[in-house]
Formats: sequence, structure tokens, C-alpha cells
Amino acid sequence: MNGKIALVTGGSRGIGRAIALKLAQDGCDVAILYAGRREAADETVALLEQAGSRALAIQCNVADGAAAEAAVKEVEAQLGPIAVLVNNAGIVRDGLAMRMSSEDFRAVLDVNLTGAFHMIRACLPLFIRRRAGSIVNITSVSGMMGNPGQANYASSKAGLIGLTKTIAREVASRGITVNAVAPGFIQTDMTAGMNEAALQKGLAAVPMGRIGKPEDVANAVSFLASDAASYITGCVLKVDGGMYI
Ligand code: NAI
Repeated sequence: MNGKIALVTGGSRGIGRAIALKLAQDGCDVAILYAGRREAADETVALLEQAGSRALAIQCNVADGAAAEAAVKEVEAQLGPIAVLVNNAGIVRDGLAMRMSSEDFRAVLDVNLTGAFHMIRACLPLFIRRRAGSIVNITSVSGMMGNPGQANYASSKAGLIGLTKTIAREVASRGITVNAVAPGFIQTDMTAGMNEAALQKGLAAVPMGRIGKPEDVANAVSFLASDAASYITGCVLKVDGGMYI
């Protein structure tokens, strides 16, 4: 991947940071987009630079189509042609469906699904012109098996799988691959807020009996983004310790 330019949304912490770092170790220069926490983004940039990568962090709400487009332009202006797009930005607003507000339903769809669409729409004309590029979308086993309390989140992640497969078919003949990675239960800020009972219940559903690491997800993304996966498109690779078999 030497010298390739990668763009990772939600790269300031958690899984996105691990993906950014792995791609830097693979030889990429890496830009990250983040929602709000500047210090976390700066920390990721410092880690990327330590890994020998040129690095850039841009605050951008991917739910805003114009902002997503502007961010892609800025990355290309500052680092060069983007070769790898990783749609990792995601949020949760859990609650039982019968009590979920329309606002909470929409907010999660706006970031997790529409945000990925915005990024893909901004990058595709560039990838098509160059007849190259790989896109990896971070979905979730929640979107494949459903999860009580996550009507909004599971819908967004199931939608992301449909988006992945559709774009894969639209651009397969243009030398562009589009795949998804579906993590199970991974140790990040997103899961750190869970109470002990929910954590134990989650772990009981994992045949391997342990929570995953952000690096477990990053390794799968690195493979799908690389030339080693050039004949793989439209696939959903689970990284879940066997949670959904
Ligand atoms: P996190 O909460 O630790 O990090 C989320 C990242 O997304 C942050 O960098 C944040 O700045 C960014 N972000 C949030 N809203 C944004 C917006 N509107 N625009 C741009 N960036 C935004 O989350 P974590 O756990 O690292 O999750 C990363 C991805 O992996 C998400 O898509 C999540 O749904 C998915 N995932 C996580 C699992 C887990 O167990 N942690 C399991 C399955 C999937």
C-alpha cells in the first residue's frame, strides 16, 4: 500500500483510530475525519506521524453532504489522490422501539448510513476517473441479526450492507472494490458505557468468550483495502469471535 492515500471517517478514536494506524503501518498516508473531539484527533495524527505517515485530521459531520464533499476535496488538495475510503463513523442512541423518538431514529440513520453514502458519492467520480479505489464500510453484526434496543442502529447497519452490495455492483467493472466489515463486540468508548450485566450478557453470546480489540477489525479492513483482495467485492466479513454464525 506504499504511498497510497487513505481516508478514514471517525478516525479519532476506537476502531477508526486502529484502522488509520494499521493503514499507516501498511505504508499509506492517512486522513481522518472526526465529529468533535479535537484532542483525540490530534493524538491520532501524532500516532500516524510516528508510524511514518503523512497525516491530516479534518472536523467534518458526515451527515452533511456538502461538508463531506468539501472534506474529500481538502484531503486530495493536501495529501493527493485518495485510493482507500473507510466509512467507519458511527453513533448509537439505543432504546426500545416503542419509546424511540423519530429524532433518535433519524439521527443514527443520518450518520451511519447517509453519512457513508455522502462519502461514497463524493469519492466515486474520482475513483471512476482513475479506474482504481477500494471502499470498506464498517457495519455491525447488529445489522445482520438484529438487536433489541437498537432499531435505529441495526437498521442503519443493515442499510449499509445494502449500500455496500449495490455500489459494488455499480462500479465492479471500473476496478473499484466495495466491501463491508461487520464487527461483533469490540472494546471501545461505544461499549465502555455498558453496565456489567449487559457486558456479561454480550460476552455470553460470543463463542470465543472474549471481547474483540479494535486491531482485530483493523486487520480485516487492511486486507480488504489491499491488492491482496482485488478479486473480492460486495462481501461482508464478520469480525465477531463467532457471535453470528
Ligand atoms: P467510537 O464512539 O469510539 O468512535 C466513533 C467515531 O466516529 C469517532 O471518531 C467520532 O468522532 C466519529 N463520528 C461520530 N459521529 C460522526 C459524524 N457525524 N461525522 C463524522 N465522524 C463522526 O466508536 P467505535 O466503537 O470505534 O465504532 C466505530 C464503528 O464501528 C462505528 O461505525 C460502529 O457502529 C462500528 N461498530 C462498533 C462496535 C463496537 O462494539 N464498538 C461493534 C460493531 C460495529
